[in-house]
Amino acid sequence: MNHLEIQTVVRIYAEKELPEEDRQTLLQARQALSLAYAPYSRFQVGAAIRMSDGQIVRGSNQENAAFPLGICAERIALAARSVLAPNGTIISIAITSAEKHPQKVISPCGMCRQALLEAELRQNHPIRIVLDGSDQTVYVLNSAADLLPLPFSSGNL
Ligand code: THU
Repeated sequence: MNHLEIQTVVRIYAEKELPEEDRQTLLQARQALSLAYAPYSRFQVGAAIRMSDGQIVRGSNQENAAFPLGICAERIALAARSVLAPNGTIISIAITSAEKHPQKVISPCGMCRQALLEAELRQNHPIRIVLDGSDQTVYVLNSAADLLPLPFSSGNL
């Protein structure tokens, strides 16, 4: 039997020591919360994508009475980016939620991890992941691939 160990580095910052660019992206994600439409879960999520030219594209979760139709903030932001900033490179995405629980951090669902990975592989440049935590902490990962070990991608087809 062989053994494969997969490591993920997560840097945990106090918000005040977060690099300025990440702090600004996170503030934009928090602003996006006000555009969330989450009457069913009452769990509002905001996301902000930073492009290589500094442009920020925001998204928030959009739910539907037919529950499976709801779309997460991250994928709304990715779709908005494909319209508003189709040509640039995504540098990072910050994600936040209105609801915060002690010692917890907002973390993308599996579907959004897969969507972020596709965007990352397509542009051949890592997407930095900035996750808002409770108690003024922020988790930072270097790439979308770090969120999804042993991923399914075009190479598997
Ligand atoms: N949600 C997001 O928008 N992003 C995440 O990373 C996790 C979950 C949304 C989906 C749904 O509208 C609500 O949060 C509760 O699951």
